[in-house]
Amino acid sequence: QLADSLYILNGFAQKFFSDALFNTEEGQDIGLSYLKERGFNEEIMRKFQLGYCPDQRDTFARAALAAQYNPEYLQKSGLVVLRDEKLIDNYRGRIIFPVHNQTGKVIGFGARIIRSNDRAPKYINTPENEIYVKSKILYGSYQARQAIDKADECLLVEGYTDVISLHQAGIENVVASGGTSLTIDQLRLVRKYTHHLTIIYDGDNAGIKAALRGLDLALEEGLDVKLVLIPDKEDPDSYVRRIGAAAFRDFVAANKKDVILFQLEVALKDAANDTNKKAAVVNQVAETIARINKAEDFTRQQDYIRQSAELLHIEETGLHTLVNKYIRE
Ligand code: CTP
Ligand code: MN
Ligand code: MN
Ligand code: MN
Ligand code: MN
Repeated sequence: QLADSLYILNGFAQKFFSDALFNTEEGQDIGLSYLKERGFNEEIMRKFQLGYCPDQRDTFARAALAAQYNPEYLQKSGLVVLRDEKLIDNYRGRIIFPVHNQTGKVIGFGARIIRSNDRAPKYINTPENEIYVKSKILYGSYQARQAIDKADECLLVEGYTDVISLHQAGIENVVASGGTSLTIDQLRLVRKYTHHLTIIYDGDNAGIKAALRGLDLALEEGLDVKLVLIPDKEDPDSYVRRIGAAAFRDFVAANKKDVILFQLEVALKDAANDTNKKAAVVNQVAETIARINKAEDFTRQQDYIRQSAELLHIEETGLHTLVNKYIRE
């Protein structure tokens, strides 16, 4: 009941914000021109049902109240907030990115500020409620579903605009984690569609750390994970715009790294000539390989043992024994 009401309210809000973006003077002058300047075309804006929230006190709140929406639900949805005992719009002056569930219903919103400043957050997202559970959401999964099936691969990026830019470039099998921390529930969602996951994160330290953090979880879910790091100071949105769709595809194909071997390279570099550290790396690798889902075929595990032993300059049989020890534990 409450859930249904929130779906209906969000649907109303999505239409209100899209209408404000395309059909009002303020929306066109501020929202639409911002999105166009960034290179988004109207077709892609409509596909993702983008919108704009007028920079007035309560334009949306008044429309929703006039349409008889319950003030309590209005607050639960995060669309409005109570200030001085009045309901005011929470996303004033922001670009609206609706977030859809698997069936295409709007479950929440991301709202981006137009001119960044230090006092306000770049994005405001829907608060957790009965239908918006952050840890279970993959932005873009509704729009990407068919393309993921077709490619038998899911690309995972960090943000809203990364997903939309890649779609515009014709790369549609892509979803976003909404920031950097990947959860087990998000990975399970991916696993329902495909077991081939390619993480395309920013090449900065935060991106690398986040990708590695999700690794063990992903392996346990039986996912085959590859990693692509975007060059420093760029993200998939800016990069695909700069080099074009074809070059972006080539870049991904040429830079796809096996995550287990990538993790090993990072750890080895860090250990350098320290033998204690190197021993710890060997243990870590054995433990990771042992986590590969048992339902997956056995040869994958064997391949990792062979390639890792080579990188580590140790005997394959020794690593094998260690892996088996972790499997038994
Ligand atoms: N994010 C968020 N809240 C913030 C900053 C980021 O929820 N204050 C999430 C958003 O889902 C965002 C993603 O983290 O899309 C990646 O953040 P960032 O790289 O900073 O933003 P971009 O997606 O690159 O957005 P833009 O290109 O518009 O700057
Ligand atoms: Mn396969
Ligand atoms: Mn980043
Ligand atoms: Mn960006
Ligand atoms: Mn980014």
